[in-house]
Amino acid sequence: MGSCRSSHLHLLRLFLPMVFSANIFWASSAAHTHSRDPFAIRISCGAREDVRTQPTNALWYRDFGYSGGRLANATPTSHITPPLKTLRYFPLSDGPENCYNIRNIPNGHYAVRIFFALVADSNLDNEPVFDISVEGTQIYTLKSGWSNIDDQAFAEALVFVTDGSMSTCFHSTGHGDPSILSIEILQVDANAYNFGPEWGKGTILRTAKRITCGSGKPAFDEDLNGDHWGGDRFWLGTSTFNKGSDQSISTENRITQASVKPNFYPEKLYHSAIVSTDRQPNITFQMEVNPNKNYSIWLHFAEIDPGITSKGQRVFDVLVNSGIAFTDVDIIQITGGHNAALVLHKIVAASGRTLTIILMPTNGSHAIINAIEVFEVISAEFRTSKEEVTALQNLKNSLGLPLRFGWNGDPCVPQQHPWSGVDCQFDSRSGKWGIDGLGLDNQGLRGTLPDDISKLRHLQSINLSGNSIQGAIPFSLGSITGLETLDLSFNQLNGSIPESLGQLTSLQILNLNGNMLSGRVPAKLGGRPLHRASFNFTGNSGLCGIPGLPACGPHLSLAAKFGIALAALLVLLLLVVCVTCWLKRRQNTLRVQKIASSREAPYAKSKTNFVRDVQMSKHQRLHEQSPTPTEGGLLP
Ligand SMILES: *[C@@H]1O[C@H](CO)[C@@H](O)[C@H](O)[C@H]1NC(C)=O
Ligand SMILES: *[C@@H]1O[C@H](CO)[C@@H](O)[C@H](O)[C@H]1NC(C)=O
Ligand SMILES: *[C@@H]1O[C@H](CO)[C@@H](O)[C@H](O)[C@H]1NC(C)=O
Ligand SMILES: *[C@@H]1O[C@H](CO)[C@@H](O)[C@H](O)[C@H]1NC(C)=O
Ligand SMILES: *[C@@H]1O[C@H](CO)[C@@H](O)[C@H](O)[C@H]1NC(C)=O
Ligand SMILES: *[C@@H]1O[C@H](CO)[C@@H](O)[C@H](O)[C@H]1NC(C)=O
Repeated sequence: MGSCRSSHLHLLRLFLPMVFSANIFWASSAAHTHSRDPFAIRISCGAREDVRTQPTNALWYRDFGYSGGRLANATPTSHITPPLKTLRYFPLSDGPENCYNIRNIPNGHYAVRIFFALVADSNLDNEPVFDISVEGTQIYTLKSGWSNIDDQAFAEALVFVTDGSMSTCFHSTGHGDPSILSIEILQVDANAYNFGPEWGKGTILRTAKRITCGSGKPAFDEDLNGDHWGGDRFWLGTSTFNKGSDQSISTENRITQASVKPNFYPEKLYHSAIVSTDRQPNITFQMEVNPNKNYSIWLHFAEIDPGITSKGQRVFDVLVNSGIAFTDVDIIQITGGHNAALVLHKIVAASGRTLTIILMPTNGSHAIINAIEVFEVISAEFRTSKEEVTALQNLKNSLGLPLRFGWNGDPCVPQQHPWSGVDCQFDSRSGKWGIDGLGLDNQGLRGTLPDDISKLRHLQSINLSGNSIQGAIPFSLGSITGLETLDLSFNQLNGSIPESLGQLTSLQILNLNGNMLSGRVPAKLGGRPLHRASFNFTGNSGLCGIPGLPACGPHLSLAAKFGIALAALLVLLLLVVCVTCWLKRRQNTLRVQKIASSREAPYAKSKTNFVRDVQMSKHQRLHEQSPTPTEGGLLP
């Protein structure tokens, strides 16, 4: 079968000598299938409970993974919007950048779809206009009036997940609060919509248009019984491109070669088509695009008209923006017969604001088309170094950065929406963005400077002037070798200026004035030639040691310091000796007392004996003596 395919391709090349980047897709073998279901997460934003929606019984998880915002009841803008009742919106007071960060997503290729809705019960004209980014790359800017157009109720893109998480951010542009109804992260085949060598992990395909022709009814893949690996695409329904000059046809026959790897198109997609008539043999499709972007176009055909029975009966050219994309397309000839899917693909560069596709019969016949897909090709942004993002997040927490700063998502990308107060620079060696400036002056910041601020190793300028930052200047600041400007003036920093700042040889401006710093200004700073650098240490009551500041106490030589240390040691030794002696003495006394008290009873007894003995002897003596005086008294 493979040889069959290549011979067809060969044939096609003969017919299409002008086509280079065009690809023709139709599978020659039976449908390849995946052994498991694709990974899928659906979130009902603002919902407190999981929700199931009909008719497909899709499960929508309750709201999680958001960086802020409020919840509200939703007013859907279109009947294609999933029937969910709540949304999450992000007022500007919650910051201009807000995200959903969904973790634990298997690395792979995903279709991400975000539906919008309007906050219910709002009398205001509340249609917000904002930007959307996925994995740091801006994919879409809502167009004002979107809430009146069915297929502008959502944004969708195909992206690769390489770090186990998916970040989708909403960037305020000052036109209302971004309001998000739902987020879907649906795994698709690793090779889905592979359009050639330019395609890959550095590419994001944003769905610009997807139309099923003929039926006039919009449908999701699920409605068309499509394979889950197709990513539940949405197809806008069209029954005519030019009322009166074309017509729709349909069939119920089986379509072969539709639901095949890697795109798994639903078979039903090919059950209807638009065909041109004699009145206007051309089929012309036009859509608005962004100028100077590349678009990836996928055209779907199946010969479902029973009136066309052999090759040569329907032959047409495909023109895109006046350039010939395919010549002499003959569906039956390429697919080998009726009711077989054929997909033609082409990349075109749009220079203007419209994309025009014309199917032009070349043989007096009519053109046919079953479906059209157009993607905007977007180069994925490089990201900011993980280490620096973490350091900024720690800084945000440590300084208690107000909510209005946002600081969600990636600090540097999308380049249209960097974090406020952060300047970025691309490091082409590492292929990552780095932070080269911090400007958070006069922002009412409190808290302290974290030690790991030095992980922002690309910093050239820091201005934190005019806040209420407390505590010490981190020693680690001295390791940001490229630092040229350090303005910490007018805060409440205390302690001494770290010696490490003396290592900052590029330092041009050092403003530490207006703090509560004390101690000696590092000699290396004080001694710096002042004609180029501008250092300001004034307004710190406790600083000393350079011209313009009070002198510090007597300067001690190393020997003197050693002497003092030695003397201190001797005093300490003496003290230890004294204390030891005193303790010994005290111990001895205690021991004596202890011995005494342990003999207390016998001593008392002997004492009693002694007393008794004494008394006895007294008695005896009395006895002995009493006769004497008596006798003596009896003596004449
Ligand atoms: C069909 O389109 C081509 C290309 O734009 C144009 O040259 C030709 O005149 C069209 N045919 C008719 C019948 O309008
Ligand atoms: C469009 O594609 C061409 C060829 O791959 C490339 O050189 C060019 O940079 C692309 N243009 C844009 C805007 O991406
Ligand atoms: C044009 O149609 C005729 C008959 O309908 C056929 O013989 C001829 O091969 C066709 N030409 C092309 C280029 O297909
Ligand atoms: C830092 O910000 C303050 C206040 O906005 C400003 O006056 C000062 O000039 C800035 N410092 C430097 C070095 O630019
Ligand atoms: C600096 O201030 C903090 C509180 O603001 C205090 O805890 C700390 O002891 C002070 N350090 C010095 C060296 O005065
Ligand atoms: C240093 O800052 C003080 C304000 O704290 C200011 O009055 C003074 O002019 C500054 N000195 C220099 C040299 O910039």
